[in-house]
Amino acid sequence: MTKIRLGVNIDHIATLRQVRGCTTDYPDLREAVKILAKQHVDQITIHLREDRRHIQEEDVKLLCEERLLPINLEMAASEEMEAMVLKYQPDWVCFVPEKREELTTEGGLDVAKQEGKLAKLVATFRRHNIRSSMFIEPSLSQVQSCKNIAADAVEFHTGKWVLLKNEEKMQEWKKLEEAALAANQLGLNVHAGHGLDYQTTKEITKLPHLKEVNIGHAIICYSVFEGLETVVKKMQAILSR
Ligand code: PXP
Repeated sequence: MTKIRLGVNIDHIATLRQVRGCTTDYPDLREAVKILAKQHVDQITIHLREDRRHIQEEDVKLLCEERLLPINLEMAASEEMEAMVLKYQPDWVCFVPEKREELTTEGGLDVAKQEGKLAKLVATFRRHNIRSSMFIEPSLSQVQSCKNIAADAVEFHTGKWVLLKNEEKMQEWKKLEEAALAANQLGLNVHAGHGLDYQTTKEITKLPHLKEVNIGHAIICYSVFEGLETVVKKMQAILSR
């Protein structure tokens, strides 16, 4: 158990499997989940993208059936994904923006622009005991919109803050801090993720009211040399401080 919950995003393990045109059945996601469960990671995060570039529907099915750890499904707010959620019943859903041409999730979701649609989805999922978080930029108006649609949590996009330097980085940190304080004040759980490595994970633990981080790329990359178990233990130690 860590002070701040750790969700491990295993999309990039699926990327390695898919990269040979689906001709290999390794690396096996279930092997990864076994290691993560043994280390008492708090949840598995997976993103079923419209273009199926990494996670496949079959993965969602198997991981939700086995459920060695709670499942956080990242998804676009589409009818197709709503049907997937109702079919496989993950524990959490994280709404993300999605563009086919992007390398990874670029920028946060504009919740303010689609409050009606998102409020309906959040309410539907809640009736099935599935909680919802919104992957947003650290903006006060987006936080307020998350409250308006009765989301359970906000996940702040840390990708920009991770890449910025000096004064600009400090400005972005201020936005993260203000947004985290506002979210907590409104009763929303504060989560964060994107681009976090050992160093920035250490720094993000100082974000007020932070309850959960979701980390993928760095954990899988570090694991090539260090092994998944070791990397997860190191991240958990950072999050326990
Ligand atoms: N959280 C969300 C909502 C994401 O879309 C991603 C990327 O899939 C992550 C966290 C993890 O980001 P990274 O792989 O850069 O650690």
